Amino acid sequence: MAALAEVTHPGQSGKSITELGMVRDIESDGKKITVTLGFGKRRDPLAEYLIGATRAALIRHFPDCGSEVKTVVVEEPAPKKKGLDLDDSTIRGIKHIIGIASGKGGVGKSTVAVNLAIALTRLGYKVGLADADVYGPSVPTMTGTQGAEPMAEEVDGKELIIPIEKYGVKWMSIGYFAGEDQALIWRGPMACNALKQMILQVKWGELDFLLIDMPPGTGDIHISLVSDIRIGSAVIVTTPQKVALADVAKGVNMFRNDNVNCRILGLVENMAWFTPQEHPQEKYFLFGKEGGLQMARTLGLELLAQIPLVQSVRESGDAGEPDALSSRPDANAFLALAARVAEIA
Ligand SMILES: Nc1ncnc2c1ncn2[C@@H]1O[C@H](COP(=O)(O)OP(=O)(O)OP(=O)(O)O)[C@@H](O)[C@H]1O
Ligand SMILES: [Mg+2]
Repeated sequence: MAALAEVTHPGQSGKSITELGMVRDIESDGKKITVTLGFGKRRDPLAEYLIGATRAALIRHFPDCGSEVKTVVVEEPAPKKKGLDLDDSTIRGIKHIIGIASGKGGVGKSTVAVNLAIALTRLGYKVGLADADVYGPSVPTMTGTQGAEPMAEEVDGKELIIPIEKYGVKWMSIGYFAGEDQALIWRGPMACNALKQMILQVKWGELDFLLIDMPPGTGDIHISLVSDIRIGSAVIVTTPQKVALADVAKGVNMFRNDNVNCRILGLVENMAWFTPQEHPQEKYFLFGKEGGLQMARTLGLELLAQIPLVQSVRESGDAGEPDALSSRPDANAFLALAARVAEIA
């Protein structure tokens, strides 16, 4: 119970699942612990998150034991209005949903996504960003919103999560529901459900653009994302290296699949060259010159922007004050990207 008392419900003023009486049963045979959580009939927007967090708490406290979390539906004293089926009513007011993707990890998807969101806002658009990286969410840190606790609100009989607003953008990330040091342990289908909740159960309101920061790779999560959520178009991020091509091509093909009706807007070449802060005129092509341009040609895509590798981009990301907010010249690369995306989306 002490371990489970660490699992708090962000939608219930941070009360723990033990306090809320959600722990219905604990069984253990010395090798495996099975915990049963009770949920009301009305769908809890944070159910998948709580299941994952409970499992993580068990693994933290009993690393040598197997652990399982079961759920039961319990009668609620006064069930309110009808339950929630995830539908697309929350994203109907959004003009363009754009996935920021790459088959490859660590090329700067999150950096590009966060800066593009801010740059679009600076151009006067209404923008939201959903962090679809349920295993390694980086949006809270990059935007300095770590520790924020989104509230839940009932809208037309549905429980919706209110996104965090900062720098004029509406942000949503699974990171808001888990401690920074809390590794999230999801099984595949759970991850997909949690992710859908992070996008479909959010009160986005009217937006011109919703950007989805995709996790690396081309796995189940990606397929579920592009097929279940109306991602209309995609921006592919790459570094100029030749070795990135095969992975990036895989990412591109995922969107070009016949069953996926998704238009690729183009390629962003990140870390196109290195410019030292003291010598802003100089360009060092660390990962090869014009690699992005060649890749765009090979893949039949437009090269939307070239973003230099500059220390301030990394520093501002770590500090939670994205570069696109600044008046430094490197912010212009993100503004130019935003202008092009807005033009062709
Ligand atoms: N143009 C750039 N200049 C300097 N640093 C950069 C640039 N782009 C990204 N970085 C840094 O590189 C690291 C990886 O970037 P980021 O997290 O955006 O990549 P990612 O593709 O989202 O990674 P993942 O695949 O893990 O989701 C971060 O520390 C980021 O600050
Ligand atoms: Mg990322």
